[in-house]
Amino acid sequence: MTNPDASRLARRGELIALVGGKEEVLLSEDGESMWVEVIRKMDEVYADLIGYETDLERKNAELEEARNFIAGVVASISDVLIVCDEKGAIVQVNPAFQRLMGAPELALVDQPFAECVASESRTAVQAMFEPGPMSKEESLELCFKTASGPSDVMAVNCSARFNSQGRLAGAVFTGRPIGQLRRAYEALHCAHVELQQAQARLIEQEKMASLGRLVAGVAHELNNPISFVYGNIHTLNRYRMTLADYLASIHSGMPDEAREALRRRLKIDAVLEDLEPLIEGTLEGAVRISDIVKNLRRLSFGSNAPRVSVELSKVVRTASQWASRSKKAKARIEMRLEADLFAFAHEGQIHSAIGNLVDNALDAVRSAPNPSVLIETRSEEKLAVVEVSDNGPGVSEDARARIFEPFFTTKPVGEGTGLGLWITYSIVREHGGVIDCVNLPQGGARFTLKVPRCDPPVKEQSGSTKLRQLD
Ligand SMILES: Nc1ncnc2c1ncn2[C@@H]1O[C@H](COP(=O)(O)OP(=O)(O)OP(=O)(O)O)[C@@H](O)[C@H]1O
Ligand SMILES: [Mg+2]
Repeated sequence: MTNPDASRLARRGELIALVGGKEEVLLSEDGESMWVEVIRKMDEVYADLIGYETDLERKNAELEEARNFIAGVVASISDVLIVCDEKGAIVQVNPAFQRLMGAPELALVDQPFAECVASESRTAVQAMFEPGPMSKEESLELCFKTASGPSDVMAVNCSARFNSQGRLAGAVFTGRPIGQLRRAYEALHCAHVELQQAQARLIEQEKMASLGRLVAGVAHELNNPISFVYGNIHTLNRYRMTLADYLASIHSGMPDEAREALRRRLKIDAVLEDLEPLIEGTLEGAVRISDIVKNLRRLSFGSNAPRVSVELSKVVRTASQWASRSKKAKARIEMRLEADLFAFAHEGQIHSAIGNLVDNALDAVRSAPNPSVLIETRSEEKLAVVEVSDNGPGVSEDARARIFEPFFTTKPVGEGTGLGLWITYSIVREHGGVIDCVNLPQGGARFTLKVPRCDPPVKEQSGSTKLRQLD
């Protein structure tokens, strides 16, 4: 403090103070600017102080907010969370663990974590805190010793915890009950198995139903030719007896007149005339029965042989040659075949599927002015595509919905069993493929068949081939 009396004694520009009874010049002319400097510095320090304080307050608020945020997150975690020190004593737990244990945090903190788990899991937990490096992460299945008895099995994850200097400071455990999850999974599994069984039963029933429909259809189809073969055989037998009588009379040396009378009476001429159509009709019936049986045999898809890499261009060529020969077709057959296109298939089945499509196309163009059939193959991503187009009348709107049904045919009796497309459809479906039919804008129909494509067979050193389906 300066003495006002002393300052009065001072010369202008001097600030004098009595210090221990002695006058001391505190501030001279030069000293004044120093004083101003000191005050300025103090102002600066004061401003800095205020700045620091505001900063501190802001940081405090942020810290508080972060703390509340973390506390809120920890409190809302439904998994249990236990933080331990390096000796395995609990440092902090979350409310989920308190609820599970039926104890407040205070009662749990400082307890050895191993004490909280059921005896059979204790050794594993204790081993984690034994001296030596702790593994960074570990998964365990633990039961906890709760206030109401052993808990559900929990899947617990343990991660090593490090302090700010990067030294091991303990471990963090997080866990969730898997007992419930397991039970739910088992229930789901049972439901799934039941569903699969129900589905298998349904498929079986559907198979039986379609087998029933097929048998009924076959019976109906066979009934017709069998009944006229049967009728014809009866008539033939009658004719046989008539002719036998007539021949016996001739051989017995009957006079000519009586023989002529007998010939007229037995209508031998009519019988002889009738024989040819009767035999032809019977043969035709037998052929129809044989056709139906042949188609049914194709249906059984005979071979249990594994699927192989089938070169489509080869199969298309032979199938169309066979179809064309058996139909004695006059149509022009054009082929646009992609080279090195392989299907993952049963060769025989793919052959009949394509053969059926060509058969139909040839039938369809029979009365077309310039009958022509186009067969194309191409790859489409993981599929091999075969298209058979014709310039016939196309498939009528009514027939469209039914062409893949067994025994659906628009062909005259004796020309079609109506099984061709159904067999083709079944083969394609068995191969995991699809078949479709469209009418072309310029007239005619196009059948498109798609089956899984595969790489060409790779020759192994032994000469055998290896197959790889495109995945
Ligand atoms: N290319 C086509 N153009 C027009 N109609 C067709 C064609 N292909 C099939 N159809 C129709 O689909 C019907 C069923 O064909 P599907 O091959 O199943 O039997 P089908 O040829 O009549 O007899 P099957 O093949 O047993 O000898 C045919 O009768 C015909 O009406
Ligand atoms: Mg057909």
